Amino acid sequence: MATIYDIETEADAGMDAALAALAREEPVAIPTETVYGLAADATSSYAISSIYEKKGRPRFNPLICHVSDLAMAEQYGEFDTMSRKLALAFWPGPLTLVVPLKPGSAIHPLATAGLSTVGLRVPAGFAGKLIARFGKPLAAPSANTSGRISPTSAIDVEDDLGQKLRVILDGGPTKVGVESTIVKSDETGVHLLRPGGLSVEDIERVIGGRVLRDVSQTAAIEAPGMLASHYAPDAKVRLNASRVSLGEALINFRGQSVVDADKAVALFDLSPSGNLREAAANLFSTLRAADRTGAFSIAIAPVPMTGLGEAINDRLMRAAAPRGK
Ligand code: TXA
Ligand code: MG
Repeated sequence: MATIYDIETEADAGMDAALAALAREEPVAIPTETVYGLAADATSSYAISSIYEKKGRPRFNPLICHVSDLAMAEQYGEFDTMSRKLALAFWPGPLTLVVPLKPGSAIHPLATAGLSTVGLRVPAGFAGKLIARFGKPLAAPSANTSGRISPTSAIDVEDDLGQKLRVILDGGPTKVGVESTIVKSDETGVHLLRPGGLSVEDIERVIGGRVLRDVSQTAAIEAPGMLASHYAPDAKVRLNASRVSLGEALINFRGQSVVDADKAVALFDLSPSGNLREAAANLFSTLRAADRTGAFSIAIAPVPMTGLGEAINDRLMRAAAPRGK
């Protein structure tokens, strides 16, 4: 059974419990500005294996390694000018940089899935302080069972993994609400590997050019040629809905007019004012709430593709992907 520590009111007890668990090579659930992470010592094969076991993740993907600042990141990865520029502009924050592993880096190959590169990120707030105290990078995927909806509150983590963890740090609802944006810089440019909580437009303003979207880089790492089911509620998910069918719940955006909306089992709006940051922050908690209504299907109205809309649509497409069973 997990103990939940409120990091506002029990910061010291939470810090001590988390450090003790990490030292035992045990994963702990921690808040970040994006989603809650299941964090463990990125230099320990035992600790990394435990992350996979607790998530029930069937295969080893490369994990993002979290560090406390750019100086710590440079102990493990090699930063070119552009990667350093992005780190200086956006860390701490919802940006992961994939960079070549530094020779002799202490990060365990299980965390990088044996690749010659590593995904590094500096999370904001308490997570950064925890890493600074621990002194070693933390590998941390989202703190949910593989394939399910990512957690944006400590209660979400407890509902899903509470029986398998001893320590959950509660930092309240996450501000950004979707996972970090992942990019990789090389001699050909800055490549988008995963849309996320930092918009491509914001990155382009800093690099003074375009972010390249060549899917081949991601495809090699994720399931080739298919959109893997992920972020899946129990209910079916139906995208770009312009009408509600019998027995469906509706997730709207900016109060668009949807035929038979009044007949929905339950009605949600990711952002009545049409603010995409607000919609991203509400996305996973709204999917969970819609699922709890018991509706057999969740109809989702269109969300624009600009700014954080790209990450929102990416997660929605995965939530709607065939479940393979
Ligand atoms: O917001 C986030 O990024 C959250 C919070 C907890 O920080 N973390 C997260 O981590 O989503 P994770 O481990 O689930 O992200 C793993 C993904 C991989 O599926 C892959 O797409 C990418 O990060 N990745 C990691 N290392 C990589 C590498 N060396 N090369 C390419 N992609 C990599
Ligand atoms: Mg995840």
